[in-house]
Amino acid sequence: MKHVNVNIKNAFIESNELEEYKELIISSHQRLHSGVDDYTGWVDYPLNHDKKEVQRIIKVAQQIRNQSEIFIVIGIGGSYLGARAAIEMLGSSFNNLLDKENRKAPQIFFAGHNISGTYHKELLEFVQDKEISICVISKSGNTMEPNIAFSVFKELLEKKYGSKSADHIFVVTDEKEGMLRQETTEKGYTSFAVPDDIGGRYSVLTPGGLLPIAVAGIDIEEMLKGAADGCMIYDNEDLSNPCCAYAAARNILYKRGKLLEIFESYEPKLQYVAEWLKQLFGESEGKEGKGIFPASLNLSTDLHSMGQYLQEGTSCFFETVLNIKRLDMDLKIPDTAIKPLRDKTMNDINKKAMEGVILAHIEDSIPNIMIDIPEISAYYFGQMVYFFEKSCALSGYLLGVFPFDQPGVEKYKRNMKELITNN
Ligand code: PA5
Repeated sequence: MKHVNVNIKNAFIESNELEEYKELIISSHQRLHSGVDDYTGWVDYPLNHDKKEVQRIIKVAQQIRNQSEIFIVIGIGGSYLGARAAIEMLGSSFNNLLDKENRKAPQIFFAGHNISGTYHKELLEFVQDKEISICVISKSGNTMEPNIAFSVFKELLEKKYGSKSADHIFVVTDEKEGMLRQETTEKGYTSFAVPDDIGGRYSVLTPGGLLPIAVAGIDIEEMLKGAADGCMIYDNEDLSNPCCAYAAARNILYKRGKLLEIFESYEPKLQYVAEWLKQLFGESEGKEGKGIFPASLNLSTDLHSMGQYLQEGTSCFFETVLNIKRLDMDLKIPDTAIKPLRDKTMNDINKKAMEGVILAHIEDSIPNIMIDIPEISAYYFGQMVYFFEKSCALSGYLLGVFPFDQPGVEKYKRNMKELITNN
């Protein structure tokens, strides 16, 4: 059966090096499934989530689609990147630019993922005369960036729709705690809860990711099915499990001084998958003075800016290629093109670019890991998310850190609040 898989044959890892991780992998896998650690609710979530709640998400998403030309998703970090990754990977790249009649979903914009007055003013001016709905996503309900953006767009909706403004506001937050929950209860906004035992960067497949993804017209039931099948596929506790093999490979390379992992994709639609991966691995592993620094490149675009460095620069990194095995859309290169290109398609050439880069890098001993993703679909997006979440958690355990907290992020949030309050 096809599934998201890892290939480490070009990572320059010997079988005895993998063997050394055998025991630790087994105990890490058991620990992850034992439930002893907080925030591991995502491990079985695709299997045991509330199906009725998924139906409610689909219904509310349809309501938003019916009533809105514009849908603004407000959130940051784990309450933003997963949804954006799915929408960019699975939606049409040009949906926002199409005429209303030809669009498959409302125009979707993001807010509250920065505090730029310029960005938010431009967005506000662009949307103000259109039919709008907004969804604010914040697990804690207290994060500064989304709170500010929420107040900006809420004010617009209150001016625009008066007493009916609540019909255009949707909230995903903690079930009981936080300022956002309090306001939601007071104002009667339609809301969903992020499960208590799932942290932001592991929450794509919960209402925090699923509501905006469903508004984009993406089949969230298929996505959850892909993840649920992932629960079975990635269930072995030994190195035959692709998540275990990837986690071990990363740690072996890290110990060898490969301090950076560069996620590379030849499909622009995966740009935000790489952004989500950077958060997933960066926040999960970067602590106690340890952790691989996750970076990303879009190829072949960045070969013309970073290709030189990759080939001949400091050898402190390994590459992880996100390889889509089958692409439904392609374009034949016209007969007017130069000879070797005629009769080929753009995807043919893109594959050759990938193969050429890998060969050149392997020749210079740069370790390469391939993550094969069978196709661009909701099903495989769900499976890929689960594959990476599990790999990341295991990798964190192997590294000796707790992969589900983010004390460093909390520190900056606290400082910013203090500085604003006291100045
Ligand atoms: O992964 C995380 O926990 C963080 O990136 C959070 O998602 C981010 O800081 C936003 O937090 P919240 O959802 O509470 O607004």
